[in-house]
Amino acid sequence: LNYNVARERRYILEVLFNGLRRLEYRGYDSSGIAIDSDPCCRAPAPARDGAATARGGEGEQPPYGSPPPLVFRQEGKIESLVGSVYREADETDLNLEESFSVHAGIAHTRWATHGVPAPRNSHPQSSGAWNEFLVVHNGIITNYEVLKETLIRHGFTFESDTDTEVIPKLAKFVFDKAHDGDGDETVTFSQVVIEVMRQLEGAYALIFKSPHYPNELIACKRGSTLLLGVKDGCVSILNFDSGKEKPASVQRALSVLEMEVEQIKKGNYEHFMQKEIHEQPHSLTTTMRGRLRDKSVILGGLKVHLKTIRHSRRVIFIGCGTSYNAALAARPFLEELSGIPVTMEIASDLLDRQGPIYREDTAVFVSQSGETADTLLALEYALKNGALCVGITNTVGSTLARKTHCGVHINAGCEIGVASTKAYTSQIVVMTMMALAIGDDKISTQARREATIDSLYNLPNVVREVLQRDGEMKDLAKSLIDEESLLVFGRGYNYATALEGALKVKEVALMHSEGMLAGEMKHGPLALVDESLPIIVIATNDSCFSKQQSVIQQLRARKGRLIVMCSEGDASLVCHSGSCRVIEVPQVADCLQPVVNIIPLQLLAYHLTVLRGYNVDQPRNLAKSVTTL
Ligand code: G6P
Repeated sequence: LNYNVARERRYILEVLFNGLRRLEYRGYDSSGIAIDSDPCCRAPAPARDGAATARGGEGEQPPYGSPPPLVFRQEGKIESLVGSVYREADETDLNLEESFSVHAGIAHTRWATHGVPAPRNSHPQSSGAWNEFLVVHNGIITNYEVLKETLIRHGFTFESDTDTEVIPKLAKFVFDKAHDGDGDETVTFSQVVIEVMRQLEGAYALIFKSPHYPNELIACKRGSTLLLGVKDGCVSILNFDSGKEKPASVQRALSVLEMEVEQIKKGNYEHFMQKEIHEQPHSLTTTMRGRLRDKSVILGGLKVHLKTIRHSRRVIFIGCGTSYNAALAARPFLEELSGIPVTMEIASDLLDRQGPIYREDTAVFVSQSGETADTLLALEYALKNGALCVGITNTVGSTLARKTHCGVHINAGCEIGVASTKAYTSQIVVMTMMALAIGDDKISTQARREATIDSLYNLPNVVREVLQRDGEMKDLAKSLIDEESLLVFGRGYNYATALEGALKVKEVALMHSEGMLAGEMKHGPLALVDESLPIIVIATNDSCFSKQQSVIQQLRARKGRLIVMCSEGDASLVCHSGSCRVIEVPQVADCLQPVVNIIPLQLLAYHLTVLRGYNVDQPRNLAKSVTTL
């Protein structure tokens, strides 16, 4: 950071901490920072638990002219890092009022891949004594074991279980080698980093800090995403291609972040997940804004490609987690309106199988963040195989948005809760609109399309109405609070609702829950049914209704403990003589019913989580965007 006016250390610390706090929602298990030490106080801070080695041997001086950077690392919440830094500042008389006009600080949140969450495995990772090179890293270094062995042979000792630690050590090795000869050689910081990058395999975004190069930081990437936030001017980026000798310096245009701070505040809500659930009438409205014109749908991002999509041999939906479920909900309507076979792929599974993809395929990638590693790798794979690649994402400028041939932004607004809610319903609406646009050339389905468009116009109001059931769902949550397991049965349009409802319950309420295809009930799941296991059956009125009625009969015959979701007015059809609990929801066009039906289940998962005392917005072990494989 280069300040126009001198800034105190306390201010610098708070800038770094606030940066980390902004990232908190993404999920992490430890954090760390490195700052410049007091220029007037050369003695390094005493070694402490979690600190990278700040000093060399007794009485030794650092092998560079500036004072050693200070490193703080902690496991757990950001506030435990903050607390430990201020405690330590107090104990060591670190001057928080010390002024800097230039200061190079780095900070990181870690989501463990190699090595348990612990201070020694947190970043910044260090080159060793005197913190000559410090690195924060997102991604995975796949050849770290080979590099580690080589570095150990050259006398390096390792303190962590991370793949990252090889990077600062390699930087020191490269730096020392360059200064090995008659002592006069100098290498620039970027030369060191480029040489390090040449040795690294895998996907990564890195930031380097070194007291050999005070007031300089180097950021670089390969595969992973790296965003630079700037206040003025342009940014120059080193683009490294291992096939080329010299990296190219690229100018990137700046884009202004169109995000209101309000969007990332909780407002009057207790949790982001709660806010995002209740925001859905609004987010659905913004998703549709400008895209419905009377009786037709206009999707600017797809327009010129519609013909190609209509002529494709197959449409493949590809995604992970909730995004996959949203695509599953939209699949039947797209098949119906387009007449094209639509297949479903979980991104990692497609890659594991290297499933066939052809030039005649349209591959539709669905991702809220647009940065999910598996989805992006599957995208690369589909691009290589020549398919038309369509992106459906909530994140303007994301890798998915940039690398697909065309696509649609879902415009649901920033989603902070790790459990996706409003993005799910907006994704379904976008894919339904996509089906309407693709099927727009067929007279035979015109009435069907128009009825769906009418239903779309009214959808935000219906969702608002369903949100009134909040208290009812809280009561249901109270009755389920001590359960160990919950099954959800659905079929047709609402197979996705069963999967997504169960996913919400397991990911935030930490209760075992499975979404099941009701048509498969007799082929195994029925064995689990007894009077104690709670089972939610989605039986809203569509072409599968009578089949779901018979599922209910069969479950009841086995004394199943049923909670049935049905269309308003159908309670007596699904639940004779009050033998089960009923959730009634308004009926909309069948293809949009999953948008309505998921709302009570989102509310249920939310209340179950709060009642069970778990962290709603940052569930255990999960991350908002899974950017590693
Ligand atoms: C993570 C999140 C899920 C999300 C999934 C896919 O697992 O916790 O909420 O559904 O990633 O994310 P994407 O950003 O690709 O939709």
